[in-house]
Amino acid sequence: MDPIFYPVNDFGPLMKGLVIGGLGIFHVFTAQFAIGGGMLLCYFQWLAMTGRSATARRFLDGYFKFLVLLSFVAGALTGVGMWFTTIQLSPVTIGLMVDEFHWLWAVEWTFFSLEVTAGYAFYRYGANLTDRTRLALLVLYTIGSWFSLFWINGILSWQLTPGGWVESGSLWAGFFNPSFWPSLVFRTIAALTVAALVAMVLVNIGTAFDREQRTELINHASKMLIPMVAMPLLGLWWLAVLPEDSREWVLGGSVAMTMFLQLAILVSSLIGGYAFYGLLKQKLYINGLTAGLLCALAFTATAFGEFVREGVRKPYTVRETLYSNSVRPEDVARLREVGCATADPYPVRGAGAMPTDQLRLGAKVFRNQCSICHTTAGVNSLPGLTKGWDADLKRMNFAKVHRLKAFMPPFAGTPAELEALVQYVGWLQAGSPGEWADSLAGPEREALLGTIQKALEEGVR
Ligand code: HEC
Repeated sequence: MDPIFYPVNDFGPLMKGLVIGGLGIFHVFTAQFAIGGGMLLCYFQWLAMTGRSATARRFLDGYFKFLVLLSFVAGALTGVGMWFTTIQLSPVTIGLMVDEFHWLWAVEWTFFSLEVTAGYAFYRYGANLTDRTRLALLVLYTIGSWFSLFWINGILSWQLTPGGWVESGSLWAGFFNPSFWPSLVFRTIAALTVAALVAMVLVNIGTAFDREQRTELINHASKMLIPMVAMPLLGLWWLAVLPEDSREWVLGGSVAMTMFLQLAILVSSLIGGYAFYGLLKQKLYINGLTAGLLCALAFTATAFGEFVREGVRKPYTVRETLYSNSVRPEDVARLREVGCATADPYPVRGAGAMPTDQLRLGAKVFRNQCSICHTTAGVNSLPGLTKGWDADLKRMNFAKVHRLKAFMPPFAGTPAELEALVQYVGWLQAGSPGEWADSLAGPEREALLGTIQKALEEGVR
């Protein structure tokens, strides 16, 4: 299949993958709060209805307003923001996801609509409704939000472990893929945890409740933390279904990945430890500041966790199917003959300041093949990473970039394109001077291209 070119945006010193990741983490956190919040509200409504708590109802109404504000406003905005950034940065991946899961996505939206409708009805009329109707609305809200997670989780986990879909192309094999269940249950528990911690912050805000009432509400909310005991097992299950190379990344193969996984585990254990010993066993009171700190820790754990989930998928955005730079593995060989930038109609930014066509080509090659993970000056910048490398070293390493670090896709362009990329990086390192020789204009042209071709071939073996 010929690659499709989209006008991708450039975020300067900020790596594209980081832009998506940063927004994604925020979105996941608010979405999980919305889901867990619904469950917590059902529980509190039940406590109030059955006479188990005299304060639950009053707390519930305040909590709900906060939940609606945060999940409807921040959740929905960041959700739309995710679409907006991903289509700007990784349109091919999003295109593939929409192609494959069109109807499932539509189903997800119906559940989202249910969530919003039930939530709004409760917000508007909750105070005047009977207890049973209130509970019914809250249950509907929770079903709506949890099933949004159910559908999205299938699609996201498919990216990492597409399973039987790779062979059969079957929608359901892709959806109920190997990491579907561990991540669904894991995320549900994370949602409960976040909701309970937020409840503990809210209980402490203002003067609505006296100390005794606060303690009672906190004791109820802390029950939502009990499922956290299952997290380590779910984590191991998830690790077990990962493809071998992905698992290696987090078990020492990649220092950053390994460290982030360890941090996620450490931070989650801190929350779990506090929940178990402090809140459940000793029934301690927790003040707003401590609760806020635990919330911040939960956010950090989410951030590390999402980073690892995104990271272990490298070099793919959809494993075995699409590399992070939107090249398909089966197209690599052909792109090495026809070129990855030949058909790219979009001009490069700052083309006027580049003294040669070779540099303009290099900039395009960079944009198409490397810019999803590298910048030209900023986070993970290519000129920075290759500082001190002479042109020959760059040639050899770029040609075998997937061997250099296995989380990079193989170079998928012609030898002349690779040489253009080498020159482009060298030119940037030299401070983008106004003059720069075209390295393929002289008599060494054939020898150079031959060397690069040989290196590319060696990389395949
Ligand atoms: C899927 C993401 C991704 C893509 C695409 C990618 N890289 Fe990388 N690359 C990385 C990461 C992550 C590192 C590690 C940075 C570090 O070690 O700090 C890296 C490191 C490097 C290094 C330094 C390696 C070392 O051992 O010092 C070079 C050189 C490099 N990349 C070149 C390229 C080139 C050239 C391209 C495009 C043809 C490219 N990369 C595409 C993710 C990527």
